[in-house]
Amino acid sequence: MMFRQLFDHASCTYTYLIADPVINAAILVDPVLEQVDRDLKLLDELGLTLQFCLETHIHADHVTGTGKLRDIAGCLGIVPQGAQASCADRYIQDLELLELGKVIIQALATPGHTDNHMAYMVNGNLILTGDALLIRGCGRTDFQGGDAGTLYDTITQRLFTLPDTTLVYPGHDYRGFTASTIGEEKQWNLRIVGRDRDSFVQFMSHLDLPDPKKMMEAIPANEECGRVSVVV
Ligand code: FE2
Repeated sequence: MMFRQLFDHASCTYTYLIADPVINAAILVDPVLEQVDRDLKLLDELGLTLQFCLETHIHADHVTGTGKLRDIAGCLGIVPQGAQASCADRYIQDLELLELGKVIIQALATPGHTDNHMAYMVNGNLILTGDALLIRGCGRTDFQGGDAGTLYDTITQRLFTLPDTTLVYPGHDYRGFTASTIGEEKQWNLRIVGRDRDSFVQFMSHLDLPDPKKMMEAIPANEECGRVSVVV
């Protein structure tokens, strides 16, 4: 398997390129519109054909590159079942498998940050956690159907029950981290460690974060797979 972690500085978003080098086919997870040219160049240099763009959720902080990549590369856009994105080519549901040669990706419903959020387990030992679980943190829960209690259940009952050695690759990082493990987060993720469900909900309700700068543009655009309405 080929695996690359790509970063968008403006939104601190990680995009992941996963490929089977035997059949030269690739998936991009959570591509960013402004990075489409970078991603296409990398795919070209690696001799890969883009088959799927896969979203962990409808993002509020950046516009997805899926629509543009689909127009240029002819890939299919896949979003979580139930997400508001009528433009998707395909929806993926809990425990469904997506196969790309020898690479097996399994969707895990991980709601709480948004109401329809998927994490993706790759070949059983590496998980892309989207914004459900960040390194020493977690996604916010104050819009897009977010619910702190649901996120607590997702993290403690679904993600923290995976093997400790499972590698964790998040959807964002703001402090320079790139990867972790489930065991490491169970020990050091202070959003969760030492908090019961009620105190987590209480804590999350007092974060007082400003809205993402691009929120008013990004959510409607992402519901159209990244088509931004241009006002002339
Ligand atoms: Fe998000």
